[in-house]
Amino acid sequence: MPILELKNIETYYGAIQALRGISLEVEQGEIVTLIGSNGAGKSTTLKSISGLAKVKKGSIIYKEKDITNKPPHETTLLGLSHVPEGRRIFSQLTVKENLIMGAYSVKGKDVIQERMEMVFNYFPKLKERLNQKGGTMSGGEQQMLAIGRALMMNPEVLMLDEPSMGLAPIIVEQIFEIILQLNSMGITVLLIEQNAYQALSIAHRGYVIQNGEIVLSGKGTDLIENEQIKEAYLA
Ligand SMILES: Nc1ncnc2c1ncn2[C@@H]1O[C@H](COP(=O)(O)OP(=O)(O)OP(=O)(O)O)[C@@H](O)[C@H]1O
Ligand SMILES: [Mg+2]
Repeated sequence: MPILELKNIETYYGAIQALRGISLEVEQGEIVTLIGSNGAGKSTTLKSISGLAKVKKGSIIYKEKDITNKPPHETTLLGLSHVPEGRRIFSQLTVKENLIMGAYSVKGKDVIQERMEMVFNYFPKLKERLNQKGGTMSGGEQQMLAIGRALMMNPEVLMLDEPSMGLAPIIVEQIFEIILQLNSMGITVLLIEQNAYQALSIAHRGYVIQNGEIVLSGKGTDLIENEQIKEAYLA
């Protein structure tokens, strides 16, 4: 039984159909990656899951419950955390305040403190910068803060939308390292990446999205060897 399943999802922005029947499965404990060109529908797929985009047809099943079109605050509470494209941290708030915002529904100072310590284990730098304004952090630090904020809800499934975007190769390495660590701690990961090679290298499985449809799927290692993928995404 997959932890998350999309069945024939169709999502529109007004009259524009962004998803044309997306079906995919994520098993508990997996890293699954979505790859595809600009505008293919990757971000819309994550937004459809977290409730940021309205699904017109199809259904989304999470832990055997239908969560189709549940609003973002509900999906977050259920254990699905979404780190959106472009990070979207609160630039005027400090690192600490950003993390606390991430735990908006968590009651009890002790729990919040515990969660923060867990975040600092992954991102020691955030601890050193607790009182720095989010907007003055470097790109890599902001990405770490965005992931840290998502971890404050103690998610079961972490959805990451292009976490390596615009970052220097060494920082990208660190981000991928953290994703592997989080996964080894039991967090299921749904990852969108423009860096298809790196994403497929760490993913158990991958799906290729083209024009709002899944055109190919398979094991990460098999997809890396696939000629079509090599030509389109690994060139
Ligand atoms: N808010 C919006 N209003 C109208 N159309 C949108 C909106 N957001 C996305 N779209 C359209 O939906 C389609 C899918 O977009 P989406 O953002 O999911 O692509 P993507 O695969 O994440 O691309 P990228 O790699 O550039 O981030 C595109 O044609 C895009 O123009
Ligand atoms: Mg996108």
